[in-house]
Amino acid sequence: MKRKANVHIIATGGTIAGRADSAAATVGYKAGELTVEQLIASVPGLDKLANLSGEQLCNIDSKDMQETIWLQLARRVETAAERNDVDGIVITHGTDTLEETAYFLKLTVKTDKPIVLTGAMRPATAISADGPMNIWQSVQVAADASAKGRGVLVVMNGQINGAETVTKVNVNALEAFQSPGSGPAGVIVDENIFWLTQSIADVVSANKLYFSIKNLTQLPKVIIIYGYVGGDDGLFVKAALQDGARGLVYAACGNGSVPEKLADMLEETSASGVPVVIATRCGGGIVVLSEKMTAINGFIASGPLNPQKAKILLQLALTKTNNVKEIQKLF
Ligand code: SIN
Repeated sequence: MKRKANVHIIATGGTIAGRADSAAATVGYKAGELTVEQLIASVPGLDKLANLSGEQLCNIDSKDMQETIWLQLARRVETAAERNDVDGIVITHGTDTLEETAYFLKLTVKTDKPIVLTGAMRPATAISADGPMNIWQSVQVAADASAKGRGVLVVMNGQINGAETVTKVNVNALEAFQSPGSGPAGVIVDENIFWLTQSIADVVSANKLYFSIKNLTQLPKVIIIYGYVGGDDGLFVKAALQDGARGLVYAACGNGSVPEKLADMLEETSASGVPVVIATRCGGGIVVLSEKMTAINGFIASGPLNPQKAKILLQLALTKTNNVKEIQKLF
């Protein structure tokens, strides 16, 4: 008989642990109310899938997630992953910043044990709440040997997505998480897990990256600046630099489309030792820059990473170097 796996659940809050006054309410509820014990108890028969243990790291709405909590979470995940009696880890999280936490863990936790993040679009009190099934399927994936070595995964609504590619694309739908361009890494149907793709960033490079956070108490400040018509006056670049930004991510309107008026300012910023990564606000595709933009302007292309994930990679890169050429190699 197959050995029952041991899965450790770390709860951080979110809608999955949220409560509303009405069972029909899917907005206007309070996130981060149920404890890890209550979440486990809300899924009938979960202990048939795996031997479970749980801990509560925080109980917050993920819009309030902090980088200092990420550092604590990464250390707790690493500690759990080092235990012989833990085969996989599930993290419950609000959906708003779940993709960022997933990517941060992907870059900072060294293990081949499955790490699965999940959340819910409907609060725990809602009719047809999606949280319990998402927890069930997350534990199923975390307990499954086939999930080993696949990096950090996000399991929601019957789909498995890689931390590098997954993004929240809808504010209401249950199918809120997708990997634009590459599609899901896998799907779950009852007791079956079907692996479909390797994520695009796995294929490119990010899978090999690891940053030790052992001696870190905070991350270097990196600011995202959003591109839009009329946003070429440099207001936010100046403000970011005045505020001590060590790096900038520019979410361009297309592939590396930096307005002429802003290009000089960003070039000077890069030359002054504050790296500038060019990402896109398009929501899909791979940012590739011209030789002029990389060699002359000194810009770094975000590749397949969206602005919020490019920011995380730049922050971690800056803990090692601020040499633009070295950082570009990491993207
Ligand atoms: C949150 O991100 O904590 C609230 C929204 C959600 O979990 O869906």
